[in-house]
Amino acid sequence: MKWIPLILTIVCTHVKAQVINHSYAHPDKVSYHHLHWQAKVNFQSQCIEATATYDLKPHDDHPLILDTKGLEIQQVKSDGVVVPYELGKTEDPILGRPLIIQVKSSVKQVSVTYKTTAASEALLWVEGDSPFLFTQSQAILARSWIPCQDLPALRFTYSADVEVPNGLMALMSASNAHQKAVAKKGASTVEYHFEQRKTIPSYLMALAVGNIEFAAISNRCGVYATPDQLNLAHTELADLEKMIVAAEKLYGAYQWDRYDVLILPAAFPFGGMENPMLTFATPTILAGDKSLVSLIAHELAHSWSGNLVTNETWDDFWLNEGFTVYFEFRIMEELYGKEVSEMLAALSIQDLYQTMEELAPVDTHLKLHLKDRNPDDGMNDVAYNKGYWLLRTIEERVGRPKMDAFLKNYFTHHAFGVMNTERFLALAKKDLMDPGNYRFIAPEAWIYQPGVPENAYPIVSQKILETDDWIARCNASDEGIKQLPWKEWSYQQQYRFLTNWQCPSADKLNEFNQRFGVSKTGNSEILFAWLMMCIQMSVWDDANEQVMSHFLGSVGRRKFIAPLYKAMIKAHQRERALGYFDRYQQTYHAVTRNTIVEHLKSE
Ligand code: BES
Ligand code: ZN
Repeated sequence: MKWIPLILTIVCTHVKAQVINHSYAHPDKVSYHHLHWQAKVNFQSQCIEATATYDLKPHDDHPLILDTKGLEIQQVKSDGVVVPYELGKTEDPILGRPLIIQVKSSVKQVSVTYKTTAASEALLWVEGDSPFLFTQSQAILARSWIPCQDLPALRFTYSADVEVPNGLMALMSASNAHQKAVAKKGASTVEYHFEQRKTIPSYLMALAVGNIEFAAISNRCGVYATPDQLNLAHTELADLEKMIVAAEKLYGAYQWDRYDVLILPAAFPFGGMENPMLTFATPTILAGDKSLVSLIAHELAHSWSGNLVTNETWDDFWLNEGFTVYFEFRIMEELYGKEVSEMLAALSIQDLYQTMEELAPVDTHLKLHLKDRNPDDGMNDVAYNKGYWLLRTIEERVGRPKMDAFLKNYFTHHAFGVMNTERFLALAKKDLMDPGNYRFIAPEAWIYQPGVPENAYPIVSQKILETDDWIARCNASDEGIKQLPWKEWSYQQQYRFLTNWQCPSADKLNEFNQRFGVSKTGNSEILFAWLMMCIQMSVWDDANEQVMSHFLGSVGRRKFIAPLYKAMIKAHQRERALGYFDRYQQTYHAVTRNTIVEHLKSE
């Protein structure tokens, strides 16, 4: 049967030449509408053994191509019969490799049996007193724990049976019937069943396993966390139901049945991830005073922007994130008032300008250029905050009633579908901006040109202006510090201060800390800003070094950890950075680790 490998090689090279949107798949040829995942999670071997079964859409004689990365493929069946398959020869560091399965047009179901490996980058096995496993699929890591057509434009439903050690709970981005785990006869494991009946793209598949408990907030929302975090999480997220009500009032009914939040171990590489029905969140938002709940408003907002209407390609990422930041601030305004939402907006613009300084001009376009690059390169403040600023500028020009009617309609009409930048522009031209407004706003300049256009709406936060006055006073003289109303300030004001105050010396920085106890704050954003100052001012006394070391060793959130390493290198502390990295890299998720490695390589 010499011809089979030959044909497969031809198919394979043919396919490799045609990577579209960060995927080897050709869903227009052969694709699936439902995926069933049967899995066994083994903490001893840190491995998931699984079979994924795909219900194919009607198709012609074409190969089914799935994306894989870091997986050990064991067997492929086509309508129950073992069949040969071809796996790409070498693994592309970004895309992984294609799994190519020949299917006749009559074939209705394909299944793949496989194991995850240490190279399955989506997974983090957290070791310690109680083991924990979680996944992070966005943008293109779903393929590292489930073979799939890993592109945001393809939607499917899924179900799963997941076997985990007795005493641990499994959760997925699906209906979580946690009361109904079934003990396996004669085994030390239990099995959980999941159903996601709404169609989702692959990047929203998610799994978590650990010693997890649940506390209800309303009859449709609640919080999951490890026992030690549950009470804190439950009080911190007490406004969850109110947020859902506010969001529904703005842009239409919540479509995903339940909305729960899972507080993950601190190693989680992001602040939050909008996995449908079950947002994953970092414990670093549990400040104790609800000051960081806007992150939950953000992930909730994705239940519309992103999860209902999904960016077609990662180049359109701003349609997910820019819309979500806009929606997040509207929810925050509804719950806590304009003063709060305007402070958040002002800070988002500060962050945007800082980020843009470090980017090539072409990477500051809203429409990204991620072809042949890691989509991670585009996941920065431009999509979020420049995207927000464009929508805010449109709102201010056309008026809120028109904006809200447009958005409600947008989410209703494109629900469970995809959107790209060009189609959004056409819609906005037709239904949102009359010719005069369109000419004034000139959205093409925002989308296809670098930087921020001059017509950007000037965002003014009174509280931030007041803070800026204090910053000016403190920059001018030491006396300002003594009168600073630090304890009365919101976290946003404190953050504004720490990121703009020009502290004159290391001694003054320590004095500041003694006066206001900054390094003892429960607010991770403030602690992060403080540690950045310590690095910039070379404050490395024992007490501060301990706080730094503890933070780098217990938190894995990339937004905090990567800039700290980067700042150390910039401040000629490379040896120190390498020392910390050596000590803690095992505790970081691949996305955080990979970013730090990039920083460590640079001059
Ligand atoms: N979907 C993102 C997280 C993400 C983006 C993961 C791209 C992987 C690739 C999530 O909604 C998000 O934006 N999280 C932010 C918090 C938010 C308040 C800006 C984060 O994790 O910091
Ligand atoms: Zn987001």
